[in-house]
Amino acid sequence: MKKAIITGVTGQDGSYLTEFLLAKGYEVHGLIRRHSTPCDDRIAHINDANFFLHYGDLTDSLSITNLVREVQPDEFYNLAAQSHVGISFEVPEYTAEATGVSTIKVLEAIRQNKIDTKFYQASTSELFGGLPETAPQSETTPFHPRSPYAAAKLYAYWITVNYREAYDMFACNGILFNHESPRRGADFVTRKITLAIAKIMAGKQDKLSLGNLDAKRDWGYAKDYVEGQWLILQQDKPDDFVLATGETHTVREFVEAAFEEVGIKIEWRGAGAYEEGYCAKTGKLLVDVNPKYFRPAEVDLLLGDPAKADRVLGWKRKVSFRELVKIMVQADLKIYGR
Ligand code: NAP
Ligand code: GDD
Repeated sequence: MKKAIITGVTGQDGSYLTEFLLAKGYEVHGLIRRHSTPCDDRIAHINDANFFLHYGDLTDSLSITNLVREVQPDEFYNLAAQSHVGISFEVPEYTAEATGVSTIKVLEAIRQNKIDTKFYQASTSELFGGLPETAPQSETTPFHPRSPYAAAKLYAYWITVNYREAYDMFACNGILFNHESPRRGADFVTRKITLAIAKIMAGKQDKLSLGNLDAKRDWGYAKDYVEGQWLILQQDKPDDFVLATGETHTVREFVEAAFEEVGIKIEWRGAGAYEEGYCAKTGKLLVDVNPKYFRPAEVDLLLGDPAKADRVLGWKRKVSFRELVKIMVQADLKIYGR
């Protein structure tokens, strides 16, 4: 039986990866932080004798070293991070520590304990910075981080490559473009939109306030992406891979598609900070722009080229953009009783 450690096990990806690995017969060990109120909603349903939780924190090297020594994992998935780009501008130092520097603590824990482990680092399309002239972005596109989050992930990316080259470790980066699901955190734009629609339909919210509607993202379904994470560690040679859909949409298009799921056509009026979205049938204001959601520096266009993952891993996204929107809207409508 293979053993895996997952940091970030309570997060969107950590929860799906746990289910995926347990189904493959792994023993799964998750690192969790202590919270004053429970924060394990995404994994609370998992009742499996091969699933173990350990208290720790990525910023605490002792807890990482002890965990690695105790479990002696075959695979280590480093998913934990302060993962919100907008919030990283407000907590830049902590983001540098938790999202960047912490990766060296894991790599050193593996190296110093001489454990034969395959290591996966959750790298990100944010590394590219979304400069329109670089799209579509692939493994060879230059990096240009545009946030404290992306700058921290840049360190984590390169220290992973460095440990592969310097110590011959099986250390890999998955450079993942945005992936979403009904388990996505409520402060990321897709889930914020689908939750708001469910609340509006239930009469519990009037309208949805957003920031930059023009940003373009390559959105896929999180379940497809955790399979890709696993595939990256099943190769004979360690390497870095982009996982993406190869398709991009604006935030505005996501809003339109999500409202269409509940039979509402959005009619836009105005522009920039004054843009508003109305129900085409009733004229009710449903969407507006609040500049408080603008970021000090924006990533304008993410569009990934997943050709290498297709060729080497045999990985392709399965769920389309429209199917993803539908899955998310339907799940949130269910939460609000529809
Ligand atoms: P998420 O839902 O925000 O989950 C983040 C996880 O990290 C949570 O389990 C969180 O624990 C944990 N964590 C945060 N700080 C920690 C610390 N100091 N010590 C231990 N655990 C800590 O993120 P996600 O969407 O699943 O993404 C997983 C990883 O992939 C992240 O590294 C993210 O940056 C990266 N990524 C995500 C995407 C995407 O589109 N989802 C794309 C590219 C890369 P708590 O529950 O205790 O807060
Ligand atoms: N969160 C949020 N809230 N974003 C908004 C809003 C809003 O109200 N209005 C517009 N946006 C725009 C953001 O400015 C950004 O351009 C886009 O929507 C997507 O924002 P997020 O959903 O917060 O995701 P992200 O692209 O910044 O980061 C996510 O994907 C990265 C991979 O590209 C996170 O999961 C990162 O951890 C991940 O690395």
